[in-house]
Amino acid sequence: MERIDTNSRAYFLLISAGHWFGLRLDLMASLLTLVTAILAVAVRNTIDSSAAALSMTYCLTIVDLFQWAIRQSAEAETYMTSAERVHEYGQLLREDGKEKHQRKAFIQPPNDWPSRGIIEFKNYTFRYRPELDPVLKNLNLRTESKEKIGIIGRTGAGKSSILQALFRLVDQTAIAGTILIDDIDISRLSRDSLRSHLSVIPQVPILFCGTLRYNLDPFKQASDEECLRALEAVQLKH
Ligand SMILES: Nc1ncnc2c1ncn2[C@@H]1O[C@H](COP(=O)(O)OP(=O)(O)OP(=O)(O)O)[C@@H](O)[C@H]1O
Ligand SMILES: [Mg+2]
Repeated sequence: MERIDTNSRAYFLLISAGHWFGLRLDLMASLLTLVTAILAVAVRNTIDSSAAALSMTYCLTIVDLFQWAIRQSAEAETYMTSAERVHEYGQLLREDGKEKHQRKAFIQPPNDWPSRGIIEFKNYTFRYRPELDPVLKNLNLRTESKEKIGIIGRTGAGKSSILQALFRLVDQTAIAGTILIDDIDISRLSRDSLRSHLSVIPQVPILFCGTLRYNLDPFKQASDEECLRALEAVQLKH
């Protein structure tokens, strides 16, 4: 409720400021009309009555035009925030670029890695950014080959963070401890080879734009039969 209040407060201020600004603009335009009218009366002997009428009409249209122009320029400025955001994403360093920068020697895992699937966390401490508190603190966990485990915890306990850790999705500078998969320390693999050997079914389903076939097999590695078999296995084929 408090957050809704904070949001409404900001929105109210925005609307009030908009209306106040509109009023000021109207006043300015009215002042201009008044000055034009007075001048037209003052110089009535030297100018045509048609010229006076024309300048009055222009003044009246300026009232609307003024408001419109200012609102448009304010809107353009607001939309520019989005452009700025896109620009910022464009400037982000690529992950592999960062790795090259560190000049680490990566090892190449065997093609069938991980064949046993033994996952071991050793004194693993995970945080999203160096200045934040750790989400996983000193985690020690070993799952054996072919073991199925469930991890239970209230929301925000750090269940999804374990998956982020397995895929090395966050900045590694703030992370302590090691994760071994089939006795290979995953920090010694390149991100590409690590991620191509693991798979995850996330909480939130995401479909990419394109065909169902593309979503099933984006890198075109499987045959049609294999795709159909996968669909059948999850009872999506009729
Ligand atoms: N990208 C992020 N940056 C900073 N903190 C994050 C980020 N993602 C999650 N957190 C924090 O890490 C903690 C653990 O979150 P996590 O998503 O792992 O929880 P969860 O156990 O999966 O919860 P849920 O059951 O809701 O899925 C939470 O306190 C959350 O606020
Ligand atoms: Mg989660």
